[in-house]
Amino acid sequence: MAWIAVARVGEADELAPLAMQRLAVAERKLLLCHGRSGYFCIDEMCTHEDYSLAFGCVRDDRIKCSLHGSWFDLASGQALNEPAECALRTYPVKIEAGQVWVEV
Ligand code: FES
Repeated sequence: MAWIAVARVGEADELAPLAMQRLAVAERKLLLCHGRSGYFCIDEMCTHEDYSLAFGCVRDDRIKCSLHGSWFDLASGQALNEPAECALRTYPVKIEAGQVWVEV
């Protein structure tokens, strides 16, 4: 496990609120999401089918899969409604030295 800087904060290129950014870190496909409460990092692919959540949307601290409509909690990864039943994997995030860091 290692902390990796993935985005900047407090700069013009900061990830906008409710936006998300794909990350390829340690051979994993991840999504960095800027939710209402801050930054979250999750696996990119929906647990229902192999479909990218990057096509969905972030609202408050949740993300919606655009294929079948399941919502996931960004903090816990928990699926909030069917058809998805399994939680997404989540990764620790911290803000330090003007950067967003993800522990992978
Ligand atoms: S692929 Fe995401 S809810 Fe079906």
